[in-house]
Amino acid sequence: MKTFSFNVKTSRTVKAALGRGMENVPAQFPALFAGADKLCLVTGSDAPPSLRARALSLFPEGKTPHLYFWLPPSEKAKTLEEAGRLCAFLFDNGFSRNSLLIAAGGGAVTDLAGFAASIYMRGVNWVSVPTTFLGQIDAGLGGKTAVNLGGAKNIAGTFHQPALAVCDTAFLDSLPHAELRSGAGELVKYAMIGPAGLRSELLKHLPRAVSGDKTALTACVSACAAYKLKLVAKDEKDETGLREVLNFGHTVGHALEALAGGRLPHGEAVARGARAALLISRETRSLSAADHRKLYSMLDALRLPPARGVRRDFKKFLSLVSKDKKARGAENRFILLEGPGRPFAAENIKPALLRKAFAEALK
Ligand SMILES: NC(=O)c1ccc[n+]([C@@H]2O[C@H](COP(=O)([O-])OP(=O)(O)OC[C@H]3O[C@@H](n4cnc5c(N)ncnc54)[C@H](O)[C@@H]3O)[C@@H](O)[C@H]2O)c1
Repeated sequence: MKTFSFNVKTSRTVKAALGRGMENVPAQFPALFAGADKLCLVTGSDAPPSLRARALSLFPEGKTPHLYFWLPPSEKAKTLEEAGRLCAFLFDNGFSRNSLLIAAGGGAVTDLAGFAASIYMRGVNWVSVPTTFLGQIDAGLGGKTAVNLGGAKNIAGTFHQPALAVCDTAFLDSLPHAELRSGAGELVKYAMIGPAGLRSELLKHLPRAVSGDKTALTACVSACAAYKLKLVAKDEKDETGLREVLNFGHTVGHALEALAGGRLPHGEAVARGARAALLISRETRSLSAADHRKLYSMLDALRLPPARGVRRDFKKFLSLVSKDKKARGAENRFILLEGPGRPFAAENIKPALLRKAFAEALK
């Protein structure tokens, strides 16, 4: 098992454990678990039985049996109502500030459970156990929690670091191909924005990772987690621009997810958003045609299916892009590229270019 500890600037030391086929995590982090009077395992109602079995082998029940809380599938979990339902469940079952939440599931589960953990009694400890490829390379790490509001993504949220993040790549054995491909969408993002060493490592493993190769998946999780945690440690609250580069592909990606009513997998939306961001980068002459071709070809390994179910409504798209919380008061704000590994923020992209970018994302 590989273990990272990282210091987040404003709060505390956060631990991350990473490996394949782990057992009995509490025995390895006794201080965190010995102090917990109650423990609630939160997961998605559509998760396969093997997920719960693996979660239990990671966190075996001791003297105090676990409580279980099931969330609706995927994005349906990310609502204020579900956060309220979870907080009420904790209260009814006598959870205190010393209790512990364990969120085992995809990014929707870790986003929602982390959010509930941040507001219940003004904040209780939680353990993030991402079980999707996307969750292990991104969503389950870094302490951003959120729910969706008004048909838009992640509008209410908090920064609340998990006390511990556990990425066990054995969870990925039951992941369907579409979810592996979705995770690979975020992986390509890292390959585009990250340093040359990370890019070559990820591109080496990408084709085998998408087809579920265990060694390739573990290598990708390890490389991406280390890179993300380094950025988070330097800019936990997304204030200096360091962490913001992780939003590459997300301005358009989030708009597409909203236009699909939650039916487009997140990583696939990000990959389409990356296409749009590459086009804007080229058309605004920050990216050369040669670099555009090189970066665009990284998306080929994903073999994205047609973007079914996304409303082709440009007016709504424009409004979603300008209401994105990342816009920070500007008309819109994008992370673009000047070349591989050279991201920068740009604002107020004109509607005519956004129309082309929308068409590019939907190709
Ligand atoms: N907080 C962050 O920093 C951050 C970063 C990126 C994405 N996100 C969020 O993460 C969410 C997407 O996460 P996701 O891609 O994990 O999707 P998801 O949470 O919707 O999960 C996708 C599906 O996979 C199933 N699943 C989970 N683990 C499984 C396993 N081991 N085997 C079989 N099936 C399994 C789930 O039940 C679900 O049906 C989005 O809401 C996105 O906004 C958050």
